[in-house]
Amino acid sequence: PIDPNFEENRELVDEHNGHDVWGPVEEPEQLGIHGTHVAVDFDICLADGACLEDCPVDVFEWVDSPGHPESEIKADPANEAQCIDCMLCVDVCPVDAIDVDAG
Ligand code: SF4
Ligand code: F3S
Ligand code: ZN
Repeated sequence: PIDPNFEENRELVDEHNGHDVWGPVEEPEQLGIHGTHVAVDFDICLADGACLEDCPVDVFEWVDSPGHPESEIKADPANEAQCIDCMLCVDVCPVDAIDVDAG
């Protein structure tokens, strides 16, 4: 599962679509965590799609990840500022790739 303490345990290495990227990143095999309030561990996401289907405010968008061992697309928290902390995405992701900091 995603490390809920990633902000302490990882380094901020990049920005993507207006959100943070937490390393390590070594493309294409290692992509890190995208987002901060709504964080998706791209190295765990296997493109199940439940988060995109169920998020009531459309926080997620698909992005391509060709060459990644788990999946060739990832759920990117493109609109994380719209999150209403319902925690649905956290509950439905089968591999626990998502952390929402509702505190
Ligand atoms: Fe969307 Fe709810 Fe997840 Fe926020 S917690 S990203 S509103 S499903
Ligand atoms: Fe990925 Fe989990 Fe969403 S596997 S597509 S983050 S439901
Ligand atoms: Zn991103």
